[in-house]
Amino acid sequence: MAAMKIAFDRGINFFDTPEAYGDGYAEAVLGETIRELPRDELVIATKVFNHFNPDGSRYPDLSPEHIAARCDLSLKRLGVDAIDLYFLHLFDPLTPFADIAGVLEKLKAQGKIRSFGLSNHSVEQCRAQRRYAPYSVVQPAYSLVNPAGETDLLPYCQSENIGVTIHSPMRKGRLTGKYVGEESFADFRNNDPDFKGERFREMCAKVQSLRPIADRYGVSIYQLVLAATLMHPSIDVAICGIKTPSQIEEAVGAMGKRLSRQDYFAVRNTVGPGSPKPPDASGTRK
Ligand SMILES: NC(=O)c1ccc[n+]([C@@H]2O[C@H](COP(=O)([O-])OP(=O)(O)OC[C@H]3O[C@@H](n4cnc5c(N)ncnc54)[C@H](OP(=O)(O)O)[C@@H]3O)[C@@H](O)[C@H]2O)c1
Repeated sequence: MAAMKIAFDRGINFFDTPEAYGDGYAEAVLGETIRELPRDELVIATKVFNHFNPDGSRYPDLSPEHIAARCDLSLKRLGVDAIDLYFLHLFDPLTPFADIAGVLEKLKAQGKIRSFGLSNHSVEQCRAQRRYAPYSVVQPAYSLVNPAGETDLLPYCQSENIGVTIHSPMRKGRLTGKYVGEESFADFRNNDPDFKGERFREMCAKVQSLRPIADRYGVSIYQLVLAATLMHPSIDVAICGIKTPSQIEEAVGAMGKRLSRQDYFAVRNTVGPGSPKPPDASGTRK
């Protein structure tokens, strides 16, 4: 909560959560925090997707009745009259697009949501959904390690004027420059092969090798990576995973910073697949 308040003081007005984090707990904490902030200056985003069973298990459910019921719960937990941006958290293969569009339009007409978007949808899923309703923002995973969507989703969004709010720009922390590759984790990263052994060590060494470029700009590695990520013309917002006041202070320090074109590609080439390449003779990308 302290980090969120400092974020607002430093000019951050977009806060993202889903009901799935802590089965509503994250929404309640965000709601408690924003009670002390000017509501009309904030953009609050949350997401719907899961049906929660009492035993803790869950399954996808974007049926109209479920969306309508969960929206009411989210409004209550957040303590707001309207959700500024309501995302479908993931793609539900079972609910017809027209049914989802119908309930979202109804919620909008009722004043419960102001706009709606699509998270973790492919470009084809977005294109198809948008034939039924004006989804205006997407939320894909994107980082310089894996600049996914650059050949399809991001160009589509740029040409259709769809807002792009990327999540996990630091690849869950791998790009922050805080690790050397020997760390172990007690959270979800414990089971992630990207945070183990040689693969983890190699990535940490690559990230550390960015330090001379960061020094030239007078920024930290975290700020260098975030600034480079935000230079992409399709990307409007980077949703950073922040837990402490000092983390948000550091993230804010990247805002408005731009690298030279040469340095931008140097950062990309160091940590990710590098510059776009032509297909080889067999037609597959190198
Ligand atoms: N739509 C979706 O399906 C989806 C999926 C994932 C995430 N998201 C959204 O995106 C947000 C961010 O995701 P993420 O947590 O994966 O983001 P991230 O920004 O890629 O990574 C967060 C990690 O960066 C570290 N960190 C943060 N600030 C730092 C700083 N100043 N210096 C060094 N390290 C720093 C944190 O370290 P510590 O752990 O030490 O604090 C944390 O491990 C989520 O909170 C959520 O709102 C959405």
